[in-house]
Amino acid sequence: MISKPTDKNSGQPAVRRVAEGRERQAPAPEVKNSAFARDVLAGLSAPQKRLPSKYFYDKRGDAIFQSIMNMPEYYLTRSEYEILDMHKESLQQLFQNGSGRFNLIEFGAGDGFKTKILLKHFTRAGVDFKYLPIDISENVLQILTNDLKQSIPGLQVEGICNDYFTALSQLRQTADRRNVVLFLGSNIGNFSEKEAMDFLGQLAEGLNPHDLILVGFDLKKDPEQILAAYNDAAGITRAFNLNLLRRINEELGANFNLQQWKHYPLYEPDSGEARSYLMSCVQQEVHISSLEKTFSFRAWEPVHVEISRKYDLDTIRRYASKSGFEVKENFFDCRHYFTDSLWEKI
Ligand code: TRP
Repeated sequence: MISKPTDKNSGQPAVRRVAEGRERQAPAPEVKNSAFARDVLAGLSAPQKRLPSKYFYDKRGDAIFQSIMNMPEYYLTRSEYEILDMHKESLQQLFQNGSGRFNLIEFGAGDGFKTKILLKHFTRAGVDFKYLPIDISENVLQILTNDLKQSIPGLQVEGICNDYFTALSQLRQTADRRNVVLFLGSNIGNFSEKEAMDFLGQLAEGLNPHDLILVGFDLKKDPEQILAAYNDAAGITRAFNLNLLRRINEELGANFNLQQWKHYPLYEPDSGEARSYLMSCVQQEVHISSLEKTFSFRAWEPVHVEISRKYDLDTIRRYASKSGFEVKENFFDCRHYFTDSLWEKI
C-alpha cells in the first residue's frame, strides 16, 4: 500500500501523546503542524465557523459510517448497489471497449461493498484489469485490500492512501491501458460546486482521451426523504457528526463537551444542498491545547460541517461538459433515486 507521508503527523501517535498527559502545554510540533490541526484552526477562526468533513473518518467514524449505510432512511447505498448489480454487464462492455484491459481506479473506496459487485463480475469474466482503490482512511484501505485479496483470489489490487486532490496529482497517465475512474456514493455532492469543478477538471487533466469516469450522483427527490437520510430516527448521523468533536478532543487535546452540541441538518430543494451543522447550544469557550488557543461559540452558533448535494440530469450534463467530458450513459436504479453517470474524456 502507498501511504501518504503526512499520516505520520496525525492519527494514533497524537492520541497517545495526549492520553499520557505529556506535552499538554507545549504540543509537539508535528501535532500542531498536522493538516488536521491546521484545518481545525482555519475553520474555527473563520467568521462563519466550519470544520472539514474529511476528518469524520477515523476508526470510530468509519464504523459509524458503516451503520449509516445500513440505516433504513439511508437509501443511497442500496440504490447504487442496485445500479451496479443491474448494469454490471453493460459496464464491463463499456469499460473494455471491445476486449481491452484497463486500470480501475476508485476514489473513496470505503469498504468496497458496492465495488465488489464489479470486481467479482470482472474477475469471473476473465477481464484483464487492475484495481487501484484510493481512500483517505489508511484503516479502511488496509481492511479493504486484505479483504479483497482473500475474497477475490486472482484480483490485482494496490491501495493508495491519500486525499483526493493529492492522489490526483500522483495519478500518472498510463498509455498502455485505459483508465476507468470510479467516484461513487455521491461523494461528489460533498464538494461545493467550485470544488467539484476543480476536482473534475484536474481529473480530466490526469486522464487520456477516451478514458472513462463513472460518477455517482444522488438525485433530487422528495425533500422529506432526503432530510431523513441525514437525520435518522436512531441518531446515528448525529453520532457521526459529533464524532468530529470527539476526535478534536482526543487528537488535539480539546475540551468540547459533546452534551452542549447538536447535529442540525437542513435541505434546500432549489440548490439541492443538504447541509449539516454542529450547533453550539450554549455560549461557551473551548480550549484546544495543541493549537494553544481558546475558541468562543455563541449560543446557537452553527459550525458548518458537510454538504451532500442532490442533482438533476441537466446539472450532471453541465458538470460533464464544463470539465472536459461527454456523458455516455446514465444508469439508474428502479426508483430513479440515484444515478451512476458514465463520462468519456474528450
Ligand atoms: N457522500 C455520502 C453522502 O453525501 C456519504 C456522506 C458523506 C455522508 N458525509 C456524510 C452521509 C455525512 C451522512 C452524513 O450522503
